[in-house]
Amino acid sequence: MRITRLIAGAVLVALMAGCGGTTPSSTAPAPTAAAASSGGGDVSAGADVYKSTCSSCHAPDASGLKGLGKELVGTTFMSQASDDLVAFLKVGRGPSDADNTTGVQMPPRGGNPSLGDDDLLNVVAYLKSLG
Ligand code: HEC
Repeated sequence: MRITRLIAGAVLVALMAGCGGTTPSSTAPAPTAAAASSGGGDVSAGADVYKSTCSSCHAPDASGLKGLGKELVGTTFMSQASDDLVAFLKVGRGPSDADNTTGVQMPPRGGNPSLGDDDLLNVVAYLKSLG
């Protein structure tokens, strides 16, 4: 069920990217739920983490929500190595951090201290599979 929704979402994103996108989307393979991340991690477990912890600030499709969280699909920031992204997620980014662009805090582990490092790697794998 969940995987079906993920695939439907991926197809939708691919379709939207095909309309007026500036980059040729025809050459990129459509992301699928089974897409492997180069840095390891379980994409479908990561989707669950994303939905429960991150989507409230970053939007269900990770396109970001104004004043809450930034876009996480296909950005330069998200193209970093998975390990570096996990390291980022562990500490987050406070409003007074020089890199902060919104004045809003990205809480450590998305504000969910029960997330382990493997959960963070999974959510990174999921986000990379979207972009
Ligand atoms: C309470 C809201 C909130 C939650 C929950 C949250 N974030 Fe964030 N996140 C933010 C904000 C705000 C920023 C932007 C900070 C800034 O201005 O640089 C951010 C930034 C980020 C960035 C950096 C993006 C960039 O381009 O600089 C990543 C990656 C990220 N969040 C991932 C996650 C993940 C993964 C989760 C879930 C585990 C999560 N966030 C949960 C609010 C949140």
